[in-house]
Amino acid sequence: MTRHKDREYTQALYDSVKQITVGEWLPWERVTAVNHSLALILETGSQRERELRKMKKFRFQLLHRWLVEQLEPCRVADIGGGKGLLAYLLQQSGWQATVIDPVPQPLPDKYKDILSDERVRVPPTAVVPHIDAPFAMEMGAQFDLLIGMHAHGSNAQIIDAAVTYGCGFVLFPCCVIDEPFFPPLGVDWVESVAGYAVQQGLAVYPFRLNFKGQNIGLCSLGRCQHRT
Ligand SMILES: C[S@@+](CC[C@H](N)C(=O)[O-])C[C@H]1O[C@@H](n2cnc3c(N)ncnc32)[C@H](O)[C@@H]1O
Repeated sequence: MTRHKDREYTQALYDSVKQITVGEWLPWERVTAVNHSLALILETGSQRERELRKMKKFRFQLLHRWLVEQLEPCRVADIGGGKGLLAYLLQQSGWQATVIDPVPQPLPDKYKDILSDERVRVPPTAVVPHIDAPFAMEMGAQFDLLIGMHAHGSNAQIIDAAVTYGCGFVLFPCCVIDEPFFPPLGVDWVESVAGYAVQQGLAVYPFRLNFKGQNIGLCSLGRCQHRT
């Protein structure tokens, strides 16, 4: 797919997800506006444009900023969290963060701070709690917020946990791997996951972040507190 077609597809997909769910909700507008202004600057061409294009690589940093701007700190699990950078950043912001991933991986030794544009070292002694196991619905009982950023084998179970235990979630559904259902022909996996959550009676708010790849997020607040 060309970049233009890709952009059109993602916009159409986002519009469709807004129809399936309750649509964008006022609290997200602040961040959506930031993303729009980023997109506008990207079109204008400048030094800043190059910087913002680079930002597209930094999905953990962008989601971290979004979360700390939108929600009060809480007990959060990053499911399929890989190396644990998102959980580490949330921990640094005062959240109780845990990675749940069957593949144990060390934290990265550095990351880019997207606000200061500086490289930041992660101390070799830094630790993020890690559950080395596939996500199971029952694990949701211990957390207020479940994150699945391109997570495998867990989107449906995260939604089931939200229904059962009242936790919130933020999902960026990407690949259909080890899930209990598949999207019908012509339906995107993001639409399918959004539809499943709505069928379970959850209020789901879609949003987008400025990173490359599947960047449509689905948020359900559950017992999480929105920052006022
Ligand atoms: C595509 S990677 C995404 C990693 C990271 N969240 C990111 O955005 O880069 C998928 C991750 O899901 C993990 N995974 C696979 N099966 C899983 C399961 N059943 N429960 C939780 N994590 C799983 C993999 O080990 C891997 O780290």
